[in-house]
Amino acid sequence: MEQKNKDNQNVVMRGMKPKGKIGVLLVGQGAVSTTFIAGVEAVKKGIAKPIGSLTQMQTIRLGRKSDGRSPLIKDFIPLADLNDLVFGSWDLISDDAYTAAKKAAVLSDSHIDSVKTQLKSIKPMKAVFYQEYVKNISGPNVKKTRNKMRAAEMLMEDIMRFKQRNGCDRLVMINCASTEIHMKESVFHGTIHDFEDAMKGNRHEISPAMIYAYAAIKCGVPYANGSPSLAADTSALRTFASNSNVPIVGKDFKTGQTLMKTVIAPMLKARMLKCDGWFSTNILGNRDGEVLADPQSFKTKQVSKLSVLDTILQPDMYPELYKDLQHQVHINYYKPRGDNKEGWDNIDISGWMNYPMQIKVNFLCRDSILAAPIVLDLVLFLDLAQRVGMGGVQEWLSFYFKSPMTPVPSVKPEHDLFIQHTMLKNRLRVMMGEKPVDHLD
Ligand SMILES: NC(=O)c1ccc[n+]([C@@H]2O[C@H](COP(=O)([O-])OP(=O)(O)OC[C@H]3O[C@@H](n4cnc5c(N)ncnc54)[C@H](O)[C@@H]3O)[C@@H](O)[C@H]2O)c1
Repeated sequence: MEQKNKDNQNVVMRGMKPKGKIGVLLVGQGAVSTTFIAGVEAVKKGIAKPIGSLTQMQTIRLGRKSDGRSPLIKDFIPLADLNDLVFGSWDLISDDAYTAAKKAAVLSDSHIDSVKTQLKSIKPMKAVFYQEYVKNISGPNVKKTRNKMRAAEMLMEDIMRFKQRNGCDRLVMINCASTEIHMKESVFHGTIHDFEDAMKGNRHEISPAMIYAYAAIKCGVPYANGSPSLAADTSALRTFASNSNVPIVGKDFKTGQTLMKTVIAPMLKARMLKCDGWFSTNILGNRDGEVLADPQSFKTKQVSKLSVLDTILQPDMYPELYKDLQHQVHINYYKPRGDNKEGWDNIDISGWMNYPMQIKVNFLCRDSILAAPIVLDLVLFLDLAQRVGMGGVQEWLSFYFKSPMTPVPSVKPEHDLFIQHTMLKNRLRVMMGEKPVDHLD
């Protein structure tokens, strides 16, 4: 494997652009997926800009500041071209991507209509879906098997058929499906043998999101989990991916409130300001919000959102400043807002001699507009990771997630957005034989 990594890295270092099509397989064809596909198609046509995407818009400094070398990431790293992406999906709702985009109502009719032909051609494959894992939705486009191993085999057949029909050279799978009920790692997720036995035995501990992740890894397809569902984040699947040299990453796209949190909290800690309380609430009215109105799906999201502050503020190391911090997260389904979420944060802090202050954040964001460029970057970076021979959990992509996965649970994930950003860029520099930037020049 060492040798393979070296050879592949040399190919990347020689700056060879990858050839052939990448099939982007999206689990769930809702607001995020359709906004992503429509955006890529619009960018390809030259009628929209890929704002929010590092792979398309960001530069990377090389060497010392005084060297003046700052190429675009896409000119520095041989990433796949947008024209080489083809899209496929699974969803229990049988709408094509055009109808689904209209229903999601994230983009304007004129934007959606400008890529109608491309969207109309994407019809979702039958989903692996069991209602007990997502209570608030139902649909007819579902595989007719209750056996979980058989369901995985059917997904693998879909994957191979898609690859062949579309003449794809490589594939990437991104989970953009609804949030499942809260699930914990258990003995059924210990080793791949435990996991496969549990699938064969139709254990409740194996959810659809896990079955998709298993099918991807088994087919050698890089996998990212944009939802907070447990999916690939179990010992069995992390090890399976690492042993199979398949890149995996997750969980839960870092978009609105959590993105802000991972910017403000590092500032408080850097300045040794005390934080007494952080109250976050938001309203959203899309289908994601409707799913999250079920307490069990909400719990999955809440756990994901709550995890960030502790690791950034380190109350064990700074008990005087952060031990008594009260952190609350609330999500309210409020239909009139659709995808245009509004979040409020009230942060109670204290400074010099314990004098109290407050920070208020009112973020009127568009959820899927923030998530779509993340999907694009993950597709291109996961494809890169696979070409370089980097299997297992891709910690350098933590930048994109609320609950970043780590190769072993004992290693705490990095949540600080700017440390994550440095990790990502230094990984790219090292891949191309450049020195990491440590700002000491
Ligand atoms: N929008 C954001 O900014 C954002 C941010 C972070 C995380 N996420 C997560 O991304 C996911 C997608 O968000 P969205 O706004 O597109 O939601 P959405 O409800 O618009 O789309 C989800 C789609 O997944 C489908 N689905 C559910 N279970 C499925 C299964 N087993 N197989 C195939 N399809 C299935 C649903 O029918 C639906 O069409 C959610 O889990 C959400 O929590 C979204």
